[in-house]
Amino acid sequence: MLKIHYLTCSKPLLFLTFAAKYKYMSNRTFTMIKPDATAKGHTGAILDQILKAGFTIKAMKWIQLTEKQAGLFYDIHRERPFFQELVDFMSSGPIVAAVLEKDNAVADFRTLIGATNPAQAAEGTIRKRFAASIGENAVHGSDSDENAVIEADFFFSKLERY
Ligand code: CMP
Repeated sequence: MLKIHYLTCSKPLLFLTFAAKYKYMSNRTFTMIKPDATAKGHTGAILDQILKAGFTIKAMKWIQLTEKQAGLFYDIHRERPFFQELVDFMSSGPIVAAVLEKDNAVADFRTLIGATNPAQAAEGTIRKRFAASIGENAVHGSDSDENAVIEADFFFSKLERY
């Protein structure tokens, strides 16, 4: 009897679980306002541009990473020649880490921030407005739904997001 009940209920349950996971993954991204931007006093203007673009903030914290934490976050770049420069810079001052929500969050946020190198970023993008160089480029944005989840998990517990 219990088995029949499980079988009849499991398909919709599986579907709902998948749908919830898919929605979660496709409508959230992770960002950091980097030490160059916080030091120059651009935090408020950057958050304002993010909110005006239709993103809502689901989690946020002001934090200074240690070298070790910055290295772990950017572990994927460990073999790149700029890795140590990146770690030194990202641990040099406070950052704002945040989880953002909007339909098509990852792609729309990357459009909003512009190219990694501000010299190639489109007019009006956050990096064009506030970044100085490819190394000190004001903001980070996740490059995929999968990395958005991994990066959000790096900074926030479940209790710290809604
Ligand atoms: P971000 O989007 O945070 O992800 C990786 C970071 O590495 C990137 O932004 C840049 O800040 C940094 N980066 C990428 N290429 C270079 C480079 N050639 N020199 C220095 N830093 C770089």
